[in-house]
Amino acid sequence: MLELETLARYDQPVPRYTSYPTTPHFTETVDAETHAQWLAEIPGDESLSLYVHIPFCDTMCWFCGCHTRIVNRYEPVTAYLNHMTAEVERVANTLGKRHRASHVHWGGGTPTSLAPTDILRLSDAMRTHFDFDGESEFAVEIDPRGIGDDTIYALGKAGVTRASLGIQDFSTKVQQAVNRIQPFNETNRVIDGLRGVGITEINVDLMYGLPHQGVEEVLATIERVLELEPARLALFGYAHVPWMKTHQKMINEAALPGTEERWKQAEAAMTFLEDHGFITIGLDHFALENDPMSVALKTGALHRNFQGYTTDHAETLIGLGASSISSLPQGYTQNLPQINLYRRAIDDGHLPTARGVELSDNDRLRRAVIERLMCDLEIDLVQICAEHGETADTLAEARPKLEELAADGLIELDGDHITVTPDGRLLVRCVCAVFDVYLEMAEGKHSKAV
Ligand SMILES: C[S@@+](CC[C@H](N)C(=O)[O-])C[C@H]1O[C@@H](n2cnc3c(N)ncnc32)[C@H](O)[C@@H]1O
Ligand code: SF4
Repeated sequence: MLELETLARYDQPVPRYTSYPTTPHFTETVDAETHAQWLAEIPGDESLSLYVHIPFCDTMCWFCGCHTRIVNRYEPVTAYLNHMTAEVERVANTLGKRHRASHVHWGGGTPTSLAPTDILRLSDAMRTHFDFDGESEFAVEIDPRGIGDDTIYALGKAGVTRASLGIQDFSTKVQQAVNRIQPFNETNRVIDGLRGVGITEINVDLMYGLPHQGVEEVLATIERVLELEPARLALFGYAHVPWMKTHQKMINEAALPGTEERWKQAEAAMTFLEDHGFITIGLDHFALENDPMSVALKTGALHRNFQGYTTDHAETLIGLGASSISSLPQGYTQNLPQINLYRRAIDDGHLPTARGVELSDNDRLRRAVIERLMCDLEIDLVQICAEHGETADTLAEARPKLEELAADGLIELDGDHITVTPDGRLLVRCVCAVFDVYLEMAEGKHSKAV
């Protein structure tokens, strides 16, 4: 483990690098018109990735950092879905050509807060405008609490291939402290049900750094989770940003583990999972050795997008729904996050675009460096610069900071080849930050590194 002083020095706010430039640098200069033009320029033979955002949940987990709201009535969900199916049609018309969907991901919020008939309605709307085939992956984020058999049946009928279940921690004390009571048996019942309707690819989300959590709770949770036999796990460090997510103020800060304790939790989890046949993927994912994600890691084909690590290699990801982000060959666009404004834009006959950023050649190079570092934990700067028609001089300003990282034991530097050390893995975002020319402009927008 790194010296505590070193760890504390690097435990500063840094982006999660699910995009570069990161979202605080999106501006309104990219609007619905630009978005429409970018969509129309995408060649028809290109397979696309589609992300659909459902910003609703039944209750609020105090740790939640997602874009969601609590609904007690179903009417707002129906209204939202009507607008989203209109958006799917509008985007398809703007593309102008029929595309194959290689990856579809429903996230949130909680997509399983949709009524079973609406799960089928949304899936039908997507299939009406995009081609799915036997190779298409269709993943849905699932909150197992209170899910009925009718919802599970609808997910199977809709053709979902991968389920990603939120678990976080199984200890009662932690669950009480975050307002999320989720018994093991209920989670187990849902996973059995999903497998029963043919959804056999199972991921689970866990968290460390939650209130009252210690190494013991994290390991006890993982032990139980392994009984559920998931092929992939994500273990996210709790991002505490109460100035942005005010419900996080419900969390007792005195019960939150400190930097050193968080580090120990993450390391203990990694060792435990590796001892149980999982491969560690990047910063926070784990997959069984023969899982496509482990294979992608080995072959250099792993990618990172707004949902985190992915095997999806589509050039274009189209985000649908309020707050969704699209990653297009020309740049990024984000939909309006406010549901009322999102709906109004659709009623007015526009794409519901709020902002975005057009990529420069320099952005593309830095984005590639950051993505490869986040995925492979190593990079040859000469090689990647050459792939972008540049020399390594383009990134020369990073040199002094890289030497500092090497002296602190986060990376090994061999000429222009960077390898993140085992100690540096959890701080890989700090290594990426060296290449981020926008960073200083975004103070107060990110969570801490560990
Ligand atoms: C959209 S939720 C998953 C689906 C469903 N809403 C649920 O919670 O079961 C995505 C995941 O993000 C993670 N997450 C949420 N808030 C977080 C935070 N503040 N810091 C780190 N991870 C967080 C949790 O692991 C959660 O399962
Ligand atoms: S963690 Fe999931 S269920 Fe909990 S509030 Fe956030 S999105 Fe909703």
